[in-house]
Amino acid sequence: FGKKVIVRDEVTSTQELAHQFAQEGNEEGTIIVAEQQTAGKGRLGRKWYSPKGTGIWMSIILRPSLAIQEAPQLTLVAAVAVVRAIKNVTGIEASIKWPNDLLINDRKVAGILTEMQADPDRIQSIILGIGMNVLQEEVPEELEEIATSLWKEKGVQVDRTALLAEILKELEWFYDTFLQSGLQFIKPMWEAHARGMGERITARGVNETVTGTALGITDQGVLRILDDKGNEREV
Ligand code: BTN
Repeated sequence: FGKKVIVRDEVTSTQELAHQFAQEGNEEGTIIVAEQQTAGKGRLGRKWYSPKGTGIWMSIILRPSLAIQEAPQLTLVAAVAVVRAIKNVTGIEASIKWPNDLLINDRKVAGILTEMQADPDRIQSIILGIGMNVLQEEVPEELEEIATSLWKEKGVQVDRTALLAEILKELEWFYDTFLQSGLQFIKPMWEAHARGMGERITARGVNETVTGTALGITDQGVLRILDDKGNEREV
């Protein structure tokens, strides 16, 4: 990963740019990073606050030979890789909140967004976006309760370049391992860092939203929930 790195000062969203570069045929592992995003995207149509020079705002082009229904598993793979990278560089153990939030002290420090372009039977590309709050001394007031940065948690200025390099290294390793052996090794690592298992959760699946108690994940990386009628559901 990262043989080709495209660095921009300001973009609307690195996701948008990565989709464009993917469409133009850029190869797997191409990275787009920006100092600032003016229209950073979160999951479920949310905004991702991406102020200048304070975070890692990056997207990576993947072209896995996976079945379309296996693609969501990549979010779990990426979450584990980013947890490892944070640990290696800062010593902090982040936890994972289903499906893609990375938390430190219960506040979100990073998020992952996977977007797929596919034909009916084949994945063309997957754009894996990672946003990480690194150097912010303050987060906006309305996010104070739910978001944090590595600076706020650790009190040191983590080197964004070193962190980015570590993320790429871990991501490449976990991605290759996943393509070779599926979630076999990754699922226990995900579960070891997951919080909220055994707790009440509302999970949005592709077609439905289910509320109940989170039980764990399946071998396919799908969340298992015990719903209020006592039925075990997979979302
Ligand atoms: C989420 O937690 O909702 C996912 C957040 C993903 C944010 C990253 S920042 C880099 C890439 N470009 C975007 O516009 N979004 C992702």
